[in-house]
Amino acid sequence: MRLPELLRKAVDNGRDLTRPELRRLLELTDPADTQQLFEAAYEVKRREVGCLVHLRGLIEIGNLCSKNCYYCGIRRGNRRLKRFQLALPEIVEMAREADEFRYGSVVLQGGERSDAAFVDFIAGAVEAIKRISGGRLGITLSLGEQSLEVYRRWFAAGAHRYLLRLEASNPELYRRLHPADHSYDQRLACLGLLRQAGYQVGSGVMIGLPTQTTDDLVDDLEFFRRTDLDMIGMGPYLPHDQAPLTAAYPEVGNDRGKQLQAGLKMIAVTRLYLRDVNIASTTALQALAPNGRELGLLAGGNVIMPNVTATRYRASYQLYNGKPGIDENSSESREKLEKSVASVGEAIDYGQWGDSPHFARRNRRN
Ligand code: 5AD
Ligand code: SF4
Repeated sequence: MRLPELLRKAVDNGRDLTRPELRRLLELTDPADTQQLFEAAYEVKRREVGCLVHLRGLIEIGNLCSKNCYYCGIRRGNRRLKRFQLALPEIVEMAREADEFRYGSVVLQGGERSDAAFVDFIAGAVEAIKRISGGRLGITLSLGEQSLEVYRRWFAAGAHRYLLRLEASNPELYRRLHPADHSYDQRLACLGLLRQAGYQVGSGVMIGLPTQTTDDLVDDLEFFRRTDLDMIGMGPYLPHDQAPLTAAYPEVGNDRGKQLQAGLKMIAVTRLYLRDVNIASTTALQALAPNGRELGLLAGGNVIMPNVTATRYRASYQLYNGKPGIDENSSESREKLEKSVASVGEAIDYGQWGDSPHFARRNRRN
């Protein structure tokens, strides 16, 4: 099949794309071809979810983490890092700012902790954010693997969406990225628990990882589909100085153009294949190119997570080298964002939760 025909099929019946077809799309390299791919994905985005960008103000609540993922800059084993945990009034202040900016929702993200004090703390923070915003702010959590009981508790407190990336759907690749005491099965099980607790569930993977093949990415796409995810958050892998994966594979992740293109293609093919989910245009894209998030919107993404963490903490929350915006404050981030969204001819969905249409449709079916 010629590329225009394949893309026509992808636009009209993307759910029917076969494995070899998905692989072919992910392997396009000619800039004229990838441009056509992005345009096809944009067409599907326009039809299925529209061209309003949904925002989630990102609050990086702390960098203490009980895990030791080989790729991550805030892993437990990184002794060179000043550890911090925001106090409740600080979180409330950042949420208030997101509310004043009319971002509509916030994400609380941080290293993984599951001690009782932390569980209480998060429940209290969720309740406080609901209270100070008069229920206006939607709340997404991104706090790792927890028990069903904890997920339920935080849901009852008022959180309604949860992000938990699988990182890699290939169990072998997962094992190469994590120490032996990190369990792939547990990670998968948690995605089921989140659904059981009532959340809109988001997951995703990193793209351009050491040893990752196109077949792995096709597996990832099939995993997204099989898990019936509402939201996808994924981005290119980027090395971090203190992460052992960087030393083990020094040649991987340094070709910024290649990483960026791989990330954008994966967004586009995900849009064509899954259709009506929310897809984040992530900060990792922006780390690779100043206009990376705009390119993500043009490739099919429809969610942006502007950082609302106080500037003084940003440098201590670097998952990878070259995190953008660490010297900026939230109003500067907001102005930049306004301009960048307008530059691609889109508008921001201010003051809305911006839930995934897929979630609403699934609930109507059930
Ligand atoms: N490069 C890209 N993404 C990373 N993350 C962590 N470390 C890196 C890295 N070096 C991502 C993981 C995690 C999310 C919070 O950040 O996918 O789930
Ligand atoms: Fe901790 Fe998440 Fe980093 Fe893993 S990726 S070390 S769980 S913050």
